[in-house]
Amino acid sequence: MGLNKKSVDDINAKGKRVLVRCDFNVPLKNGEITDETRIVAALPTIQKLLNDGGKVILCSHLGKVKNGPNEGESLAPVAKRLSEKLGKEVVFVSDYNVTGEAATKAVAAMKEGDVVLLQNTRFRGAEETKNGEEFSKELADLADLYVCDAFGSSHRAHASVAGVTKFITAKGGENVVGYLMQKEINFLGNAVENPVRPFVAILGGAKVADKLNVISNLLEKCDTLIIGGGMAYTFLKAQGYEIGNSLVDDEKIDYCKEMMAKAEKLGKKLLLPVDSVTIAQFPNPIDAPVETQVVDVKEMPADREGCDIGPKTQALYADAVKNAKTVVWNGPMGVFENPILAAGTIAVAKALADTDATTIIGGGDSAAAVNQLGFGDKMSHISTGGGASLEFLEGKELPGVAAADDK
Ligand code: 3PG
Ligand code: MG
Repeated sequence: MGLNKKSVDDINAKGKRVLVRCDFNVPLKNGEITDETRIVAALPTIQKLLNDGGKVILCSHLGKVKNGPNEGESLAPVAKRLSEKLGKEVVFVSDYNVTGEAATKAVAAMKEGDVVLLQNTRFRGAEETKNGEEFSKELADLADLYVCDAFGSSHRAHASVAGVTKFITAKGGENVVGYLMQKEINFLGNAVENPVRPFVAILGGAKVADKLNVISNLLEKCDTLIIGGGMAYTFLKAQGYEIGNSLVDDEKIDYCKEMMAKAEKLGKKLLLPVDSVTIAQFPNPIDAPVETQVVDVKEMPADREGCDIGPKTQALYADAVKNAKTVVWNGPMGVFENPILAAGTIAVAKALADTDATTIIGGGDSAAAVNQLGFGDKMSHISTGGGASLEFLEGKELPGVAAADDK
């Protein structure tokens, strides 16, 4: 699928102030970055603009910022890590106002090849998240050109992702997408719109409700849809099976029935677990030792809870991806945070690692699982976007993509 949007390759940033929206929403523990994937993923675009001789002004959100600006959600740790990665100073504008005087001054002092990072855009609260005009304009006032490279945030119609582009256009500037956006959309877009077949989609995770449109859209595009994780039990209940204390979305039973009928009508394979790893009580903490018992899904005891796919299901799913040419996976098969309940997720990761197919991992939990289990470098593409890749797989237009100028 060709992305019909201008990209950083269509601009020369020489001497220009370029505002780049990245997704630097990285996990932090005690102020330390625990996964730098999103920072590393942003480097090619930044480097290109620096090579052009641009003045690179970076911005991003971090966290949800529910209680207003605070040091715990400052982008300061990102500035530090980024500066190490780039091997040059990143001037951090720590001002909670994000734009304003401090930012204006820092930008005015920039020379070609300099990098400035603005403070967390969500420190402007609803002005950012409700796509406020004033904040959008203030962001645009700092720059001549705008680059969106924040794939992970591209499903948010926020000021720094979408609103800003209108004001860049108004002053005669261009709005383009970065290399990360291009790469993500090429992988995900090709898989969904133009897959080399057989195309197998694997969906897991806790809730059917989170994946309604993804299930429906992927059923139309794929040849085989595999369901695992907590959401599988709602499907099993819809088939009339006892599911004990397993996770269930009772309101979505009819929906699951509809999807099973849809698969049948379209002649698509829909695979559900045939056995399940069950427990009597959920481990606390989540990774504490736990006693398990494998049961056939037709014989689930009423007092047990399914927390992973069983060995027969592992083999069934591995077999389904063996001859696939394209595989998209989103959502773990079980409670992978617990080593005793991770076997199903590991088996699927291993099956993907072993196939010749193009393998694409939706972000969020599945990306974390694949990386944590050590299969990261075996996959063709691991998305940096959780919510964004899901919305993309639903077939929705992403505001961050829509906002860029057409070619
Ligand atoms: C993410 O991590 O999902 C993205 O950075 C978007 O963040 P959000 O879900 O808080 O909008
Ligand atoms: Mg999210």
